[in-house]
Parts: sequence; C-alpha cells; structure tokens
Amino acid sequence: MVSFAATGTNRTGPPGGVARGIAIAPSLLTGNFAELGSDVQEMEAAGADRIHWDVMDGCFVPNLTFGPDIVAATRGFATIPFEAHLMVANPDLLLERWAEAGCQRLIVHAETCTHLHRTLGAINELGMSAGVALNPATAPWIVNHVLDLIDLVLVMTVNPGFGGQLYISSMEAKVRETAALVEHGSRQIQVAVDGGISSSTIAGAYLAGARVFVSGSAVYRHPGGKKRAIDEMIQIALDAENR
Ligand code: DX5
Ligand code: ZN
Repeated sequence: MVSFAATGTNRTGPPGGVARGIAIAPSLLTGNFAELGSDVQEMEAAGADRIHWDVMDGCFVPNLTFGPDIVAATRGFATIPFEAHLMVANPDLLLERWAEAGCQRLIVHAETCTHLHRTLGAINELGMSAGVALNPATAPWIVNHVLDLIDLVLVMTVNPGFGGQLYISSMEAKVRETAALVEHGSRQIQVAVDGGISSSTIAGAYLAGARVFVSGSAVYRHPGGKKRAIDEMIQIALDAENR
C-alpha cells in the first residue's frame, strides 16, 4: 500500500514525501486525456512526488473531468501516491470508489461539505489521508476543529475549474495564515497551493509557507520537458529560502 511519508524526506525517500521540505504534485488537468497512463508514468519518471487528480463534476465547478474508473485504470502505471482533489458538489457519494481506485488521499472542498468533520472521518476510516481545499474567499479558520483529521490544507491560488489560469498572489497572505494555524495542530499538516504554480510563482508561495505545489500547465508546457519543469521549480523554491 503506497503511503504518504512525513514531511522532510528527501526526494529519494518514501513516495509522496515532502522532498527537502518540498513536494511537487503535478495535475493532469492539462494532460493528454487519451494517454493518461503514460502521463502518470512520465510524471513519476520526471520526479513527481504524487499525482494530483483534479476531479470536477460540472456542478461545483464549470468543468467535467475524471471519475474513479479512470483513476483506477492508471494506478498500475506508477508507484507514487495518488490524491484526488474533489471539486464536486457531493464528495460523500463516491468515497469507497476512490479508495478502491487506489487513491491515498482525498481532498474535499470545505464549501461542499455540510458535515465536514463526518466526511473527513469517513475518508480516514477508508484508510486514506484527508485534506481540505479552500476556495480563494474561504478563511482558513474553517479547519480549526478538524486538524486532527487532516494532513493537508490546499489553498486555492485560482478559482477552481480550469488549468492555465493566473496565480492570485493575494492568496500568499492566506498561505501564511494557514501555515501559522496548522503549526499548532496535533499532527504534521502540509500546506499546499493549487493554481497558477510555475517557476515564476513558486518562490512567493514557498516563502509564504507552502510546501506542496500542485502544478499542471507549467509542468506540461515547459520547453525543457516535465523533469526540467519539476527540478526548476524545486530549485527556485530552495534558492528563495537562501536569499
Ligand atoms: C483547479 C485545478 C487547477 C489545476 C492546476 O482549477 O486544481 O488549479 O490543478 O492548474 P495549473 O497549474 O495549470 O494552473
Ligand atoms: Zn487541484
């Protein structure tokens, strides 16, 4: 069973680990939907720490993407963890199916969960890690009373629905707020960002306290290829720390 390592492992450490304090989670949203198995394989070969599936239902966000059967079909193409970012109106519907499909983490939107504590508990019960995603307008304090049930907070740095959007730099203040909030939790909680993350935006997000970076178009469209894109982002983040 693939599992997420604690933060701080090096890149050769256990899969899904936060390499040198950083994890890159490529989103397949701008990938080749006819060859998702090869995309997953290439992302692992390029040094991705985990695969980020942007699941959209056309209700919560104006786009429709992957279901558990598609994720399951690609599971055998890689050994690194899969996480599903559920941008769906009712995340409780398919929890078991995501576990069966081979996901190690489910990230639900606070905005879609009437009973967030119950949903996160149900995810943990199924043996998966749980994360909470926050749309740009949602305040971090919403996770105050579920810190014992999660290992990741995903701060959206775009309004969800599509890849290739512009990074909302004002979210860096919220990343700082979130990092400060989770620091007092009983367990190690990673702060992740998602949307518009590239070589030109990762430094600001890293300095604000993010350690997990979801990136789609910047990885797929880098002229030097996927590995170069990933290595470049990590180096820029680490250099920012030493500036
Ligand atoms: C929500 C999605 C996107 C995607 C990243 O829209 O979650 O943010 O993962 O897309 P890029 O990296 O292309 O902005
Ligand atoms: Zn996402």
